[in-house]
Amino acid sequence: MIVRLPSDAMVVLIGPSGSGKSTFAARHFLPTQALSSDALRALVADDANDQTATNAAFELLHTALAMRLARRRLTVVDATSVEGWARQQLLAVARRLGRPAAAIVLNLPLATCLERNGARTDRRLPPAAIRRQHARMSASLGGLAAEGFNPLVVLSTADEIEAAVVEQVPA
Ligand code: CTP
Ligand code: MG
Repeated sequence: MIVRLPSDAMVVLIGPSGSGKSTFAARHFLPTQALSSDALRALVADDANDQTATNAAFELLHTALAMRLARRRLTVVDATSVEGWARQQLLAVARRLGRPAAAIVLNLPLATCLERNGARTDRRLPPAAIRRQHARMSASLGGLAAEGFNPLVVLSTADEIEAAVVEQVPA
């Protein structure tokens, strides 16, 4: 599938931990185009896992997102974004700056996310957390278009994710 993204868009990756968001971002976007909640937790706390740094990390993420969108720089949000309220905060920033809000959902089966999580050497979440995130993603799918994401791309197999080609189209 060819995913065409306006070059001034906010691009929200949606998927549980282990679905491959950071891998997807590294493959298809410049390092400077991606804002990672984990990297920002590490930036303030020297630990990507430190949940006490979550509020600070997202404050930085929303601020950097707004600053980049103001400059019409395509910006990828690399966080799970499986919760409606988390997406609403992102959508509010894009709306305020008048930029398109795209979403790419890495809608892999729960078993794949759990398997990849178990094989990780960098960071690992308790399986229960991945189950919860996966359930929230599944419950979110039907409402994403109405939330305002356009384009909205749902990739539902590892092969589909592997075959995806991203094009940044001048706005
Ligand atoms: N992985 C894989 N094959 C892919 C994509 C990812 O085997 N096609 C592996 C990665 O090497 C990593 C794990 O799956 O060990 C999770 O991928 P990652 O991109 O880190 O997932 P995220 O969604 O970014 O997870 P998190 O929310 O925890 O950052
Ligand atoms: Mg990641």
